[in-house]
Amino acid sequence: MRHVMGLNDFMLRKEGKEVPVVYDPARCLNSHVALIGMSGSGKTHQIKQLLRSAALGGAELDIFDVHHELDAVPGARCAMYSQATGYGYNPLVLDLDPHAGGVNRQADFIVGLIKQVTTQFGSKQEAALRNLIVDCYASRGIFADNPRSWARKEISEQERRRLMDQREWQQLREYYPTLSDLLAYAETKVLSLIFGGDNKAMNALEALAKLNARLQTLALKERRAGVQAEERSKLEGQIEAQQKRCIDAYSEAIMAKPTREAKDVLKYDSKDVLVGVIQRLQILTAAGIFNATAPPFGDAKVRVHQIKSLSDEQQILFVKLRLRAIFERAKQMGPTASGTELRFVCMLDESPKYFSEDSDDIINVIAREARKFGIGLWCAAQQPNFPESFITNCGAKFILGIDASYWKTAQQRMRITEEGLKWIKPKEVMAVKLHKEGQPDPPFVNVVVPNPGTEAGRRALAKAA
Ligand SMILES: Nc1ncnc2c1ncn2[C@@H]1O[C@H](COP(=O)(O)OP(=O)(O)OP(=O)(O)O)[C@@H](O)[C@H]1O
Ligand SMILES: [Mg+2]
Repeated sequence: MRHVMGLNDFMLRKEGKEVPVVYDPARCLNSHVALIGMSGSGKTHQIKQLLRSAALGGAELDIFDVHHELDAVPGARCAMYSQATGYGYNPLVLDLDPHAGGVNRQADFIVGLIKQVTTQFGSKQEAALRNLIVDCYASRGIFADNPRSWARKEISEQERRRLMDQREWQQLREYYPTLSDLLAYAETKVLSLIFGGDNKAMNALEALAKLNARLQTLALKERRAGVQAEERSKLEGQIEAQQKRCIDAYSEAIMAKPTREAKDVLKYDSKDVLVGVIQRLQILTAAGIFNATAPPFGDAKVRVHQIKSLSDEQQILFVKLRLRAIFERAKQMGPTASGTELRFVCMLDESPKYFSEDSDDIINVIAREARKFGIGLWCAAQQPNFPESFITNCGAKFILGIDASYWKTAQQRMRITEEGLKWIKPKEVMAVKLHKEGQPDPPFVNVVVPNPGTEAGRRALAKAA
């Protein structure tokens, strides 16, 4: 990728020379980018140009577009995430790396994410959710301590529904559970905490509830369409038999030593804790972002994830799950030959909402570890508030204009001088710092930005074309 940022401002003013300033990630220490500018300073404008150069340079792009304004990149295919489209990714698909992946890691990751977006997620809820995830995997024969049981196929929501309707339980076990499975599993656990009884008893009770519901529907039909005596008496017979099965199963559970139920109380604390966890999951996943129906990107190399319709919390969950999947994929492909080649770009506009200082946060992990696998994390923000891991591992910094009240922070965090900041003029001159080999702390360089509205900007435009 070769991107002309503009012209060296000093050379143009002092010597009348047109010296282009070029951003080529392969020539920097890594491909991460920080782009800072107050509202209206031209971030989105610059992002579009940078993404265009990256796409033309052959990189794969995942663009997380919070305003639905980054869809014009060459080769882009867009997917909008909302209740209506129902596109999402199954968070329960496992990383098969026996050391870094598997059931426990995935459970930790999901619990960590939910915790990050939930202010009052206590340790009881945390433990309950973790156990729920691990048990839900186990119900499919996927066990934390057996990596050979981890590989499964991915299922779509439609296929899952079909298999459930046809009661193809054996076939379902070939697939990873989905969030719907997790919620269904959790609901059964709540019922068993309320009513007591083991799984056999619970299943019998559920079946009885279903038969009773069918009887009610039939009663309604009868009122409308006349008596269907035969069907009714058949159903009543079934209910009677099911009641007996229920009583037997519960008697058995009561007489047996309290094993499973006691363990459930230990794992899930109480029904209130579990209900709290379920409700939280339901709210966070309401827009379908955890559905197992992946968006139809096909083989598009430029994927625009349009996430405007999601809440802030949902955006954070969605972006971090995707980032992790992208990182896993890049790792599976192995290190790039040069160590600085740009294979994947992950673009985060309005990035501060995703940040935390937690060193396990996937953003910080990517900032520290993803360079050799070819990932460039590009983060745009209005203020210079980046986590330590990111800003200290960022090969390119672009400052497009920041309010004077943030200058002190910018001086400290970005290591730019006050003099340097004074030269910045939004949409006309930006400050660029490119970390290259052999330069411990290169200075910021002022760059005239391509802009048809000014004389210098037009000269930069001609060079950038
Ligand atoms: N170099 C430029 N040349 C010409 N027009 C520009 C340039 N940079 C930005 N603009 C225009 O200025 C306006 C504001 O820019 P932009 O939307 O990129 O700002 P922003 O920093 O993304 O703001 P916000 O933080 O509010 O999203 C847009 O209409 C854009 O087209
Ligand atoms: Mg913008």
